[in-house]
Amino acid sequence: MLILGIETSCDDAAAAVLETDTPGVATIRASVIANQDEVHRRYGGIVPELASRNHVTAIMPVIRYALEKADVTLADIDGIAVTSGPGLVGSLLVGLMCAKGLAQSLGRPLVAVNHIEGHLLAPMLEHRLTMPYLALVVSGGHTEIFVVEDFGRYRRLGRTRDDAAGEAFDKVAKLMGLGYPGGKVIDDLARTGDAKSIRFPRARIRGAPLDFSFSGIKTSVATMIRDGADTGSREDFAASFQEAVVDMLIAPTLKAARETGSATIALTGGVAANSRLRARLTEAARAEGRIVVAPALRYCTDNAAMIAIAGSYRLLRGERDPLDIDARANLAL
Ligand code: KG4
Ligand code: ZN
Repeated sequence: MLILGIETSCDDAAAAVLETDTPGVATIRASVIANQDEVHRRYGGIVPELASRNHVTAIMPVIRYALEKADVTLADIDGIAVTSGPGLVGSLLVGLMCAKGLAQSLGRPLVAVNHIEGHLLAPMLEHRLTMPYLALVVSGGHTEIFVVEDFGRYRRLGRTRDDAAGEAFDKVAKLMGLGYPGGKVIDDLARTGDAKSIRFPRARIRGAPLDFSFSGIKTSVATMIRDGADTGSREDFAASFQEAVVDMLIAPTLKAARETGSATIALTGGVAANSRLRARLTEAARAEGRIVVAPALRYCTDNAAMIAIAGSYRLLRGERDPLDIDARANLAL
């Protein structure tokens, strides 16, 4: 079965062609992403109105390019999977309406996919994972721990009480005058910095050890910068901040892995691209006999291949969603 995946939940317009006949076993024939970082950089964050307007012009060329790379035509597509939430509603609507139009005109089934489900199943694009597995989804909008019990069965064990980890990276980068998006810039600077130079607070939620909180560290950075405190070099500051965030991500994840007896931890979402998080989580997990599986960087950040694989098990069962399905900014998993 050939599946066209479409993703426009935030600022990336993405399309992918996936070939699959068995749930969880897939070949990525093409995965194309039109990134809008240049559009939003000057505002220091995503401007929703600009994101959706840019999706309108990008989405059809992105789909055409994905089909071309996969060496197929629209007529070869057997089903369409599209993100219907959570995300920016104006952005979601562009991909959703495009998918509906294609499904209607081609007479092919459409399934709506939860963006988080895409991140949770992204490690399966390249690895044969046995369910259940534990997953840390860590992105600009989410920081959550799930047990992936089966396709369509996800149990949330922990979540952030305030900011997402990626949001903390982006906000701190903005405070440091490093531009947008901030995660990668901080990651790069931190490589040559001393992570022990500043001791940032590591927040824990009393009574909820699997939950996260990143507003405290963000405030602590803002206060230091506002008060003109000695922050040392940019490299040391970035490394110290990153180390604190990584510590705060690792502790609840390992605790959840121990409590659920999970031998495999999937690390996914945009912040899973962070080199320090990958290295430290892998090392800490290995010390307990667990393995960490993270998708290649291009499948960690928003992409349509993960949406296609998350839609595939339903399409393979012959399911479809009605064409009046709506976009939901806060769609729950
Ligand atoms: O999953 P994603 O592409 O979009 C959302 O659904 O949010 O994640 C984007 C987030 C941004 O906050 C970005 O700063 C962060 O992922 N990010 C990183 C790195 N690369 C991207 N954070 C830390 N280190 C990185 N190398
Ligand atoms: Zn995402």
